[in-house]
Amino acid sequence: MPDDNDTLLDVRDLKTHFFTDEGVVKAVDGVNLSLKRGQTLCVVGESGCGKSVTARSILRIVPAPGRIVSGEISFRGRHGDRIDLARMNPRGRDIRNIRGREISMIFQEPMSSLSPVHTIGSQLMEAILLHLPVSKGEARKRAVSLLDLVGIPRASEQLDAYSFELSGGMRQRAMIAIALACEPQLLIADEPTTALDVTTQANILDLIRELQEDSGMSVLFITHDLSVVAEIADEVVVMYLGRDVESGDVDTIFHNPKHPYTRALLQSIPRYDSLAGERLYSLKGTVPHPFSRPAGCPFHPRCDDVIAGQCNTNDPQRYSISAGHSVRCLLYAAEENRSVVDTPA
Ligand SMILES: Nc1ncnc2c1ncn2[C@@H]1O[C@H](COP(=O)(O)OP(=O)(O)O)[C@@H](O)[C@H]1O
Ligand code: SF4
Ligand SMILES: [Mg+2]
Repeated sequence: MPDDNDTLLDVRDLKTHFFTDEGVVKAVDGVNLSLKRGQTLCVVGESGCGKSVTARSILRIVPAPGRIVSGEISFRGRHGDRIDLARMNPRGRDIRNIRGREISMIFQEPMSSLSPVHTIGSQLMEAILLHLPVSKGEARKRAVSLLDLVGIPRASEQLDAYSFELSGGMRQRAMIAIALACEPQLLIADEPTTALDVTTQANILDLIRELQEDSGMSVLFITHDLSVVAEIADEVVVMYLGRDVESGDVDTIFHNPKHPYTRALLQSIPRYDSLAGERLYSLKGTVPHPFSRPAGCPFHPRCDDVIAGQCNTNDPQRYSISAGHSVRCLLYAAEENRSVVDTPA
């Protein structure tokens, strides 16, 4: 476990599998990530690569038949104690005290986490009263100031609104207000802007950034959209088929990407200086079915740089390119002095 005070969350070699009747889905199969206080870490990758299951594993809300099979989720609690969330009882009191209080999560679809039969105000007050020792009156005041903080106009009137009465952007703001009710140290945002129009998306990203600057909380931001990563990330982890394939700070990932998958993702985003009519690179093939994980490097059937006879049999380790920059690709295995990043088995 890391012992520096700055690291809030450190996930090592996390594996979360689903044991279905048809077979085992290795949704997360060796993920490493580290998040410092006050920073934003973006987890990026195509749909189905295990981003949401990683987030749910951290909060211990993986649905059956899924479970964490190995790995460590080291989290530094409010009192400075370091705890391994992976070892907690998912239904126990300890993790329930952490959910909402120390770590909050917002989802792509607010309707799935907002109740349709309770007002926004009562849901906000419930979140406050569950974790903070305040009176109902104080909770109500706090609820108004939270709605105000997230930019909901006429906050005191909106306490009595139901979620279906709000627009998509306002619903997302209400969900953020509930997530922030107890001033969590970590906010996990799972594609929170994907369902929104571009302008509302930009407003919500600005809001998260401002709230973070004011409160110093850390954000684990999940997205499939690299333009969002460019806006908001300090650090980036690129995932493919349940693994981290490349990690580094945002400048390194955008200006010195090493993994062929990261490069292909970057080439497939539209740039402001693209020529009219210019075709964007598109990743060939699709993400394999979860039951038919390719042998060797799982990316090899889609890789432009595949090394014949090697990539289809050897599973790449994490190689260190420079401090804080690692990549799982055999192209970097042979280089002199290349060290393997230590991950516990
Ligand atoms: N409840 C479940 N049962 C079986 N497989 C699941 C379940 N939830 C997710 N998976 C599988 O886990 C993999 C990763 O899913 P997910 O984390 O949702 O991807 P992402 O969020 O990156 O789009 C996918 O192959 C998905 O089909
Ligand atoms: S290990 Fe081989 S197949 Fe995998 S990303 Fe690197 S070059 Fe491509
Ligand atoms: Mg997802």
